[in-house]
Amino acid sequence: MIKNDLFLRALKGETVDRPPVWMMRQAGRYLPDFMKLKEKYDFFTRCRTPELATEITVMPINQVGPDAAILFSDILVIPQAMNIEVEMKPGVGPWLPNPVRTSKDVEKVIVPNVHEELGYVMDAIKMTKQALNDEVPLIGFAGSPWTILCYTVQGQGSKNFDIAKKFCFTNPVAAHILLQKITDTTIAYLKAKVAAGVDAVQIFDSWGGMLSPTDYQIFSWQYMQQIIDALKDEVPVIAFGKGCWFALDEMSKSGASALGIDWTCSARNARYLTGGKITLQGNLDPTRLYSPPAEIRKMVHQMIDEFGKDRYIVNLGHGILPDIPVENARAFVDAVKEYSK
Ligand code: CP3
Repeated sequence: MIKNDLFLRALKGETVDRPPVWMMRQAGRYLPDFMKLKEKYDFFTRCRTPELATEITVMPINQVGPDAAILFSDILVIPQAMNIEVEMKPGVGPWLPNPVRTSKDVEKVIVPNVHEELGYVMDAIKMTKQALNDEVPLIGFAGSPWTILCYTVQGQGSKNFDIAKKFCFTNPVAAHILLQKITDTTIAYLKAKVAAGVDAVQIFDSWGGMLSPTDYQIFSWQYMQQIIDALKDEVPVIAFGKGCWFALDEMSKSGASALGIDWTCSARNARYLTGGKITLQGNLDPTRLYSPPAEIRKMVHQMIDEFGKDRYIVNLGHGILPDIPVENARAFVDAVKEYSK
């Protein structure tokens, strides 16, 4: 049904002529046409207006040419729907005026009806699917419960999420109630996204690497596993844990279709830790896209040689940075399309 199904075939572990490619955070951020929209509409207006979300989602497909689209939205629409105020402050990033810090605060957090509170996301998916016209698959996403907790408790981005961790270690009972509420909401949300038409989902555990391997199991992984269990029979699931190489063995047995790898873990180590059985996605250092296009091409080809062309999805090790020249992003994608072996 989907004309370019390389990405879906790689998720199934099928043999392919070349691996598929897309870039985390490819929708928005570095594209000049996106910057123009950004001047006119604030962040959550862009998320909540299906026409705008569709336009931004399709932009990189037409201008850069990856093999999959990722819906323009944000992981923080989940806490918003859960009755936690979230603002996006220009130059600051996420800003939560009333962070969740006590058991009482946790009690006030609701598990919403996702169709009511997040219906605009489903509308954006339906409109985007039409605009994509089955050319490439559409990826839906959510943050991991731990990563969402990080923002809801810390109240903003952080280098170490010290307040979030302090909350977990001093009030674990409340932390687990909050994590379970986020998990229940996320499962309903991702199921609704699948019903609306997404072809795969990715869970971003952007701050999983802030936790020790033991705490990772307790505060992050067990909730990720619940989400994978609930979704894996409906849709391929990609689990991306930044800085979580230590958990790759367990993640490879989770039922996820693919695992995201960041650039601090070598292809060889990632393959070793996952037993060579599962599709891996990654892992060029996003700042490497500052290199000249010729060097980007060389590094991409080397990366494919190291991971192997099968059971592999070419990507960055984290999101593309806002000041990457478009031609360098294009060199990254083109290098994969040129690859043959
Ligand atoms: O490809 C895409 O960009 C699709 C949409 C997307 C956004 N956020 C749009 C966005 C996706 C997949 C995300 C995920 C996201 N959001 C994550 C997980 C991925 C990762 O990078 O680790 C996280 C941690 C967030 C939280 C968040 N949202 C932060 C920290 C920021 C500020 C800094 C920044 O630019 O990333 C945002 C704002 C945000 N989300 C912007 C965009 C395009 C920039 C603000 C704007 O456009 O006004």
